Amino acid sequence: SRTAAVIPAAGRGVRLGPGTPKALRALGGTPMLIHAVRAMAASRAVGLVVVVAPPDGAPEVKNLVDAHVLPAHTDYLVVPGGGTRQESVGLGLAALPEDVSVVLVHDAARPLVPVDTVDAVVEAVRGGAPAVVPALPLADTVKEVGPGGPGEPEPVLSTPERSRLRAVQTPQGFDRDTLVRAHAEVAVDGEGATDDAGMVERLGAPVVVVPGHEEAFKVTRPLDLVLAEAVLARRRA
Ligand code: CTP
Ligand code: MG
Repeated sequence: SRTAAVIPAAGRGVRLGPGTPKALRALGGTPMLIHAVRAMAASRAVGLVVVVAPPDGAPEVKNLVDAHVLPAHTDYLVVPGGGTRQESVGLGLAALPEDVSVVLVHDAARPLVPVDTVDAVVEAVRGGAPAVVPALPLADTVKEVGPGGPGEPEPVLSTPERSRLRAVQTPQGFDRDTLVRAHAEVAVDGEGATDDAGMVERLGAPVVVVPGHEEAFKVTRPLDLVLAEAVLARRRA
């Protein structure tokens, strides 16, 4: 039975600004998506990578992945994604072959996650946890706010104790059947779920945390690209 990594890469990257879809933007001269695929394939545990491409961009993404060498132990598939991250992950799950029993879901927008983090997530799932998320303590204090009146500032409602909060990253790891059931049964309003583990929580299944890594940060805004280039340069030095 194999471990597969589903990589949602179908987003436009609105917060990064106009231009090429985020996953295809270059980082150190190589598309972010290729970094993410290599980060998954770097784990000996990962036998299959499923790339979820922009809805109209699967052939182009397939050509791109074809043009880059992956370790011999890793196969890959490219499938078209959907309008929300949740739909894109669902389409990736639907493409998994039968022999896959452990699934990682990894954002293409986290191109620099170290292999030790990937391995730690896989280990925890293989050790019996149905859902595993890498997470880090927060640097900032977080406040819950409510809606302000028209033209009024938002009121603060509460301040959760920071030491109990974690910022979660990917790859998140799952027992395949648990994640497939979550995607089939859990309804999420609006923009859909931005976190697969959150859907598993709503099934009532346990979710556990392993240590995340600073370099697993998500490229979301322009400043994140500056940081990503600096991390790559440091690695290459
Ligand atoms: N994603 C996806 N399909 C979508 C939306 C997002 O596969 N319809 C993927 C993105 O490609 C990204 C990951 O989900 O790898 C995390 O999403 P995010 O960082 O929010 O990326 P975008 O949605 O592209 O960015 P933005 O929200 O700024 O538009
Ligand atoms: Mg998004």
